Amino acid sequence: MRRCYSRTVPADLNYHVPVTSRTQVAIVGAGPAGLMLGHLLHRQGIDSVIVENRSQQHVIERVRAGVLEQGTVDLMNETGIGQRLEREGLRHDGFFIAFNGSRHRIDMAALTGGRAITIYGQNEVVKDLIEARQATGRPLVFEAEDVSVGGLRTAAPIVRFTAGGVAHELTCDFIGGCDGFHGVCRPSIPDAAIRVFERVYPFGWLGILAEAPPSSSELVYSLHERGFALFSMRSPSITRLYLQCAHDEDAGAWSDERIWSELGARLATSDGWKPTEGPIVQRGVTGMRSFVAEPMRFGRLFLAGDSAHIVPPTGAKGLNLAMADVYRLAFAIAEYYRTGRERLLDLYSERALRRTWRAQRFSFWMTSMLHRDDGGNPFDYRRQIADLEYLFSSRAAMTSLAESYAGAPFENR
Ligand code: FAD
Ligand code: PHB
Repeated sequence: MRRCYSRTVPADLNYHVPVTSRTQVAIVGAGPAGLMLGHLLHRQGIDSVIVENRSQQHVIERVRAGVLEQGTVDLMNETGIGQRLEREGLRHDGFFIAFNGSRHRIDMAALTGGRAITIYGQNEVVKDLIEARQATGRPLVFEAEDVSVGGLRTAAPIVRFTAGGVAHELTCDFIGGCDGFHGVCRPSIPDAAIRVFERVYPFGWLGILAEAPPSSSELVYSLHERGFALFSMRSPSITRLYLQCAHDEDAGAWSDERIWSELGARLATSDGWKPTEGPIVQRGVTGMRSFVAEPMRFGRLFLAGDSAHIVPPTGAKGLNLAMADVYRLAFAIAEYYRTGRERLLDLYSERALRRTWRAQRFSFWMTSMLHRDDGGNPFDYRRQIADLEYLFSSRAAMTSLAESYAGAPFENR
């Protein structure tokens, strides 16, 4: 393990000289991808430094995903960080899709031979990973400024950053580019070496957290003439809800009353079901996009998670894809240190992209089946209803949906 944070010049001369150090893997970003990569590497005895530009509190409090695939749950359990997840996570064997005033259930477990999802907030996953990281004593730097990466095509790439007013130069063997969609890693790849595939949707989601006990034990996705809505949850006392809105909607322009009235209109079904109301404790708007960068590697820089791909949240795949990426990447890096072979590193991008495109296909399909387009074309709405009616008339179609939603097992070779 190499962890020398050595100064290269006498202390009295080094005011403007960066502190140099070395690690095996430098990880940019302490979201789910970066933290899990550090965790998996640690379990293989591989040293890493994680550099994050936001504060620990910000990273933990950021409200995002809530649906964990079986693969993510298994990974957390198998690597010793699943205790709280096992206690507090809510296992769901199915979910509902509502349209024309009725709820229809997809019995995921029955259709997939027992696969399920678990509701456990992304911020809880991040909290568990940070706790595990800090217990190892390995470096995790928050509030790093001016983060940049260089020397990507050399055998000794560098991550530069400033922390606590001190400039650092961290040399490594590999960089894990886990810094999300707006990070610095992907933009550091020369244009000629990367190709981007993108689709931006003309709508977004207004999401809220409410102090209200969930009135359904499973998620409800709804297609309504007024637009998409989703009923989800975080715990037996917290409901998470989303409304389709304009991509640049101002969340502040929505009064609590208007939010509840719109949710009621889009979600309530003729059997009398509707979401329970309660104080709204958090709200925010997310734009929707599909995005893939190919390849997910440039020299010694490996992209993972949202830095390489974004899916619209309708399929609940983003966090799970990030986990699947780093599972594969950590295994490939471990093989390199164990055997000197680069075979799995060379296969990383191609294999991770295969899973990514499968998730893109599914997320696009779920999004277009359940959202109303800007113009609200009545033809499209009838076609969407026909799509949903077909879905629930066909066990084969429901099985296909259930398989994709539950997610395929993670693979590492
Ligand atoms: P991020 O979580 O974005 O983490 C990247 C980290 O890098 C951040 O901490 C960021 O601060 C840091 N960073 C950025 N720039 C720099 C820099 N220059 N230097 C250092 N650090 C930097 N996914 C699901 O699977 N299921 C769901 O139910 C689901 N629901 C969602 C609902 C919403 C409303 C949203 C917005 C997303 C949802 N997602 C869902 C997607 C999921 O949240 C993301 O896919 C996931 O966060 C990706 O993790 P990541 O670690 O790759 O990226
Ligand atoms: C969530 O609970 O935040 C959630 C659930 C399902 C989705 C997206 C988000 O498809």
